[in-house]
Amino acid sequence: MLVREIKSCIYSVGAIDWDRRLFDELIPLPDGTSYNSYLIKGSEKTALVDTVDPTKGYELVNNLEQLGIKSIDYVIAHHAEQDHSGAIPKILKLYPDAKVVSSEKCKNMLMDLFLIPVEKFITVNDREIISLGNKTLEFVHTPWVHWPETMLTYLKEDKILFTCDFLGSHLATSDLFAVNEPKVYQTAKRYYAEIMMPFRTNITKHLEKIRDLNIEIIAPSHGPVYNRPEFILKAYKEWTSDEVKNEVVVAYISMHGSTAKMVDHFVDTLIEIGITVKPFNLTVTDIGELAMALVDAATIVIASPTVLTGLHPNVVYATYLANALRPKAKFASVIGSYSWGGKMLEQITGMLTNLKVEIIEPVIIKGCPKEKDFKLLDKLADEILKKHKEYNIAK
Ligand code: FEO
Repeated sequence: MLVREIKSCIYSVGAIDWDRRLFDELIPLPDGTSYNSYLIKGSEKTALVDTVDPTKGYELVNNLEQLGIKSIDYVIAHHAEQDHSGAIPKILKLYPDAKVVSSEKCKNMLMDLFLIPVEKFITVNDREIISLGNKTLEFVHTPWVHWPETMLTYLKEDKILFTCDFLGSHLATSDLFAVNEPKVYQTAKRYYAEIMMPFRTNITKHLEKIRDLNIEIIAPSHGPVYNRPEFILKAYKEWTSDEVKNEVVVAYISMHGSTAKMVDHFVDTLIEIGITVKPFNLTVTDIGELAMALVDAATIVIASPTVLTGLHPNVVYATYLANALRPKAKFASVIGSYSWGGKMLEQITGMLTNLKVEIIEPVIIKGCPKEKDFKLLDKLADEILKKHKEYNIAK
């Protein structure tokens, strides 16, 4: 990767991971990602902001060599997760005078993860500053971006906010800046949905906390840099707000076609009555797409056949995930088919304990759906419309 100057004496020195397709062995990365690291040369001191994934440490080192960096005074560690901290040991070896600057919690985690000795750290409190001479770093504690130790750095003179995961996007691109905003919007939304949505309350507080900063550039540690910060701040306000949309997410599996017939009919009915519907066949669904849909939807409907008296295992997985992501949905229901009995409804409601949803009368039927069953599905669709109208999100 090339070294690129963001502003005078501030460089992007991280790595693009064009080929990565999975994060945490769980989250699909259809657009790859980047591990952004930034080098700030002050008149007296030099700071490196975050490092990179350990697999890309050599690229970071090459970039620093390309810039001719002979010494680093501070390595700012916003977050202990390895995609940003994994090359810290390598940097400390190459630049033995460097100190790692982090929150107290982050220090403890980095000591646990990489066995970095305690004397290598400088811990900073919320709003504490470190001077690089003609450039000043202010640290803003933002716990639970998705881990408890996270912080941001505001570079006062240049009005740049370095945000690590917060406001970032999993996008491998040769664009230094977010010039393709529609694409970045989608990838940043996917990232928010998969990682930060469970911490929506904290994220809202962080947005409030940085409101008074005069920000000209937001430099996250994934995806392109924002030279129009209002673009991503506005998107985050939309995603974190309490507002839901006139949308129904239908997550389903069908083994022999009965549940699929129910879902097809239900989806068509919702469309006819003016509700946006997003069906996800869980046998082929990218869970990131499902997570994104959960950011906005007012209603979640889970549809499953009965397997061994309960839900299909893939539906269990999706329901577990939906519960863990804590979307702001207001209503939920269940559709399904069984041959001789089962406890699907109890299972699903028992798994949605994190969600503050009202359960709308489910439609669980025996065997293949018949005319009376389709009428029950129409009734469920009408009931959802009624609820959405009460919420002033449907006409
Ligand atoms: Fe990009 Fe939470 O690490």
